[in-house]
Amino acid sequence: SWTPASFVEETVASLKQQIGNDKVVLGLSGGVDSSVAAMLLHRAIGEQLTCLFVDNGLLRKGEYEKVLDSYKHMGLNVVGIDARERFLGELKGVSDPEQKRKTIGRVFIEVFDGEAQKIKGVKWLAQGTIYPDVIESMSVNGPSATIKSHHNVGGLPERMNLKVVEPLKLLFKDEVRKVGQELNISPTILGRHPFPGPGLAIRIIGEVTAEKVALLQEVDNIFIEGLRKHDLYDKVWQAGAILLPIQSVGVMGDERTYENVVALRAVTSTDGMTADWVHLPFEFLGRISSEIINRVKGVNRVVYDISSKPPATIEWE
Ligand code: XMP
Repeated sequence: SWTPASFVEETVASLKQQIGNDKVVLGLSGGVDSSVAAMLLHRAIGEQLTCLFVDNGLLRKGEYEKVLDSYKHMGLNVVGIDARERFLGELKGVSDPEQKRKTIGRVFIEVFDGEAQKIKGVKWLAQGTIYPDVIESMSVNGPSATIKSHHNVGGLPERMNLKVVEPLKLLFKDEVRKVGQELNISPTILGRHPFPGPGLAIRIIGEVTAEKVALLQEVDNIFIEGLRKHDLYDKVWQAGAILLPIQSVGVMGDERTYENVVALRAVTSTDGMTADWVHLPFEFLGRISSEIINRVKGVNRVVYDISSKPPATIEWE
């Protein structure tokens, strides 16, 4: 029967055999899947593995530094790439959701490829693809209409002319977490909420600017830290904030304000395919709302999204 320990043992042995003395490059995202894939490969081939972690400027507040640091502590050979300006530059004037995804996907491939070229003689691209991704990409590419182009890095292996290795391809998310525990990956990394590849760009409705990203990072941070503080983080599958493209009238002291509206979203789900909005305590929502409005300049109204998927989706774009 399947156990995390036997999976690790067998996979490490077969990776050693498959890869031999070749060099491998892997893109870390900060998420569970790529972290577990990296640690498995690290155990199998050690220094032959180089990990790249790209800062696209659309990550959560402080995330790049935090995650890079924890990867280094795990003993991974990881190169951080600050590509914030490049991404934000390319997103200028782009407001259509699909166009945002395509732009971010293309720039990611260009940045990643450019950096991977520096690894002499690299032969393999490792990916943290898990079983639900395989299923989903089949339906995305199949006759059914593409709902969203989730697979932002689809063209990567072809472009780079590398062989692909995907050690988690047959696992479900809960199994990936168990394998991660077996590999001693910290619970903070294993318990992280999923976060979309295009990051905050698809939570900023309309054009993305550095100022909007900075504002949303503050709002998101207050919400996520609040969830942690009130012991709600692990009860939620995914949470975040959305910056809406409208302003609303408010009042501050005896001044009238005309500022941004943000929406909060928290869902439960098992695989992201369906989701329910979370009945967060009113008390908690009220507190977070006040904290956001008091602390984040430019926000004077907070709303809570009570839509389930379907017919809504988890993200707003
Ligand atoms: P939706 O909005 O389709 O999201 O209900 C389902 C799950 O997928 C994530 N998501 C993405 N992940 N690239 C990604 O890597 C994307 O373009 C993308 N769009 C949505 C979303 O955060 C949720 O976990």
